Amino acid sequence: VNAKMKVEKDFQVGEVDPRLYGSFIEHLGRAVYGGIFEPGHPSADEQGFRTDVLELVKSLNVPIVRYPGGNFVSGFNWEDSVGPAENRKRRLELAWRTIEPNTFGLNEFMDWCRKANTTAMMAVNLGTRGPNEARELVEYANHPSGTYLSDLRISHGYKEPHRIKTWCLGNEMDGPWQIGAKTAAEYGRIAAESAKVMKWVDPTIELVACGSSSTYMPTYPEWEATVLDHTYEHVEYISLHRYYDNHKRDTPTFLARSLDMDDFIKTVVATCDYIKAKKRSKKTVNLSFDEWNVWYHSNEADRKLEPWQIAPPQLEDVYNHQDALVVGCMLISMLKRADRVKMACMAQLVNVIAPIMTENGGRAWKQTIYYPYLHASVFGRGTVLVPLVQSPKYDVQDYTDVPYVEAVAVHNEAAGELTVFAVNRHLTDTLGFDIDLRSFGNASLIEHLVMESDDLEAANTADQPDRVKPRRSEGSVAADGTSFSAQLPKASWNVIRFK
Ligand code: AHR
Repeated sequence: VNAKMKVEKDFQVGEVDPRLYGSFIEHLGRAVYGGIFEPGHPSADEQGFRTDVLELVKSLNVPIVRYPGGNFVSGFNWEDSVGPAENRKRRLELAWRTIEPNTFGLNEFMDWCRKANTTAMMAVNLGTRGPNEARELVEYANHPSGTYLSDLRISHGYKEPHRIKTWCLGNEMDGPWQIGAKTAAEYGRIAAESAKVMKWVDPTIELVACGSSSTYMPTYPEWEATVLDHTYEHVEYISLHRYYDNHKRDTPTFLARSLDMDDFIKTVVATCDYIKAKKRSKKTVNLSFDEWNVWYHSNEADRKLEPWQIAPPQLEDVYNHQDALVVGCMLISMLKRADRVKMACMAQLVNVIAPIMTENGGRAWKQTIYYPYLHASVFGRGTVLVPLVQSPKYDVQDYTDVPYVEAVAVHNEAAGELTVFAVNRHLTDTLGFDIDLRSFGNASLIEHLVMESDDLEAANTADQPDRVKPRRSEGSVAADGTSFSAQLPKASWNVIRFK
């Protein structure tokens, strides 16, 4: 039986906020040092930014990048990272057990953002620090001039304020691994008080409160309810973080993990709305899925690393074909809830669980997961249409009724284009996929991009950077009036574009 999708122009989930395609750079491993910043690299510009990496980032069209952590931020003193580079302090970095040289910091990151055509999502430290340092950072970054901290920024060579709009109130504060972890009530209070004074410094900013670090946290979802009880009127978003793994080498289950993401989103939306009702509030708090990806390949290697090195190779997952399918499913999950998931950050961007890899001093290349992220970011702009999809299904121990075909459609009215993203989770069969576009009148196919591989574990490396990549599929979509029938190869990521 074929899978089917009916695409109705007027039945809309919501506008895609471009920030759904954000990413993340943490001071962790080789994300900064050897990743985006490597003075002396043949491609480095006058600031030491790798232009080969900048080009790969720019192609992804990343609207926002979270910085500087992650777990790192909970022990970070932002003052260490500004001013003349030769005066900056080296610090023991306790989250990842490394040495942080601070030769790249806040101002360099803002310059890098401008060169990468992106913006910053800045996190403040609510682990070892609190409202005072948070409001001071907002003053340093965003206040125009005439105060000690804004003039300090100017003396560092940045006359114009950075005008950073989006700020995270700490990171994963529910996790015992976090420096300065807190109970929900402790965090809720400090987040609310920090939010208040940060907005008093700059009322134009918007804030993200920390939600649960994962669906498996014992405090989830009571954490969200308690945190929002304290912060509801002070924040615009609550964060969600989720990584999936295939340690058990059980691909049907691994590919079904986005069903957990669907539930996670549903639960957090419900919790936000419950607190909204409880507070008789008119305001709606939305979701920032600001860490998501597959993460597990590097776990073993990371356990063996010597501590207290500068920028060692940490979390350097080498992604294979099936990881890219999970990433595709996760993107579809978030698009299906574009009404409430307004921001999201693929974690991370370079070298650390990342779509882009580099060698120190050498090459840069695209991992398999680069492609679904690229396609969604480039073609998934506009309005998400209500996904009316019927698909044959399968069961695994953790999930029943897993659709073989996961799909969503995005209508870009301005460009006059409609894009269907679809993953075929079937590991052995090509599936027919009927797409009914009657509400679009005379639609015609632009192209069918497909990423498939006979080897689910095939990956890209510096020596074989193009082993897994999408191709344009010819003759795989048949048209019959306003209906189309596509062939989705086994275990494939598909982008079917119409105009
Ligand atoms: O992205 C890697 C780490 O995962 C982040 O530092 C942390 O927030 C999460 O646990």
